[in-house]
Amino acid sequence: MEVFTSVQSLRQFLRQQVLQQKSIGLIPTMGALHEGHISLVEASRTDNDVTVCSIFVNPTQFNNPEDLLKYPRTLDADCTMLENAGCSAVFAPSVEEMYPEQTVLKINFGALESVMEGASRPGHFNGVGVIVSKLFNMVQPDRAYFGQKDLQQVSVVKRLVSDLSFDLDLVICPTVRETDGLAMSSRNRRLSDSERSIAPHIYRILSNSKEDLLAGKRVDEVLARAKNEFASINAFTLDYYEVIDIKTLLPINQIGKAGTNAICVAAFLGPVRLIDNVVF
Ligand code: PAF
Repeated sequence: MEVFTSVQSLRQFLRQQVLQQKSIGLIPTMGALHEGHISLVEASRTDNDVTVCSIFVNPTQFNNPEDLLKYPRTLDADCTMLENAGCSAVFAPSVEEMYPEQTVLKINFGALESVMEGASRPGHFNGVGVIVSKLFNMVQPDRAYFGQKDLQQVSVVKRLVSDLSFDLDLVICPTVRETDGLAMSSRNRRLSDSERSIAPHIYRILSNSKEDLLAGKRVDEVLARAKNEFASINAFTLDYYEVIDIKTLLPINQIGKAGTNAICVAAFLGPVRLIDNVVF
């Protein structure tokens, strides 16, 4: 597996691959990899000749400096996992390499970023939009892989690809969960033992809400029950809990047809902010 830290060396490598008519899959990550990321590598290996994983903790998408500082950085372990998973190349640039100058570009995703993560983390999706665009331009992949766990990010990136006419296919892969239901996340490793034991309640509450909605319960009742459950577990501070339409991301009062609804949650466990969702 090749490891590149400069854009120039990455481009040189990729030019050779394209000359040999090889297809390229890109997995953009911020490192601290887990089985969820590896499932994206596996999907890319199935679809492409060459799989590139980028590892870059992107400062422009953090609105909370402490979150940026504490974001886990485990490059050596990440490279071992990627090599074992059969990844072809890692792109792990420095901040200076990615942003030789402070970017002045502002990408506004309108209504898509006025809710949930966008509302709670002002500027977050501008940062995601800029870095993902840069990575798409640097790698020029045939396909790019994202996890369903970041449902709003998926919507925003779909819009980015369509509005800026990126010539690539987006492949969205299912959320990978621990055996107790907790969605895999790089942030999970910041949980204390007691927080980690409480964290699976997030998926349990989501699953109960989904079942209640499918059984015909009213959205407002289901939301009230879920919020009460979070309130009854002291360690949680709920940020949002919404039943939404997956196309508009806007809250709905009544669920629509199968596959168009989602329940999305963000909650703090101590200092760690976790997100999850179920689509149904
Ligand atoms: O999902 C992430 O890890 C990040 O938001 C991404 C897509 C790598 C951009 O920095």
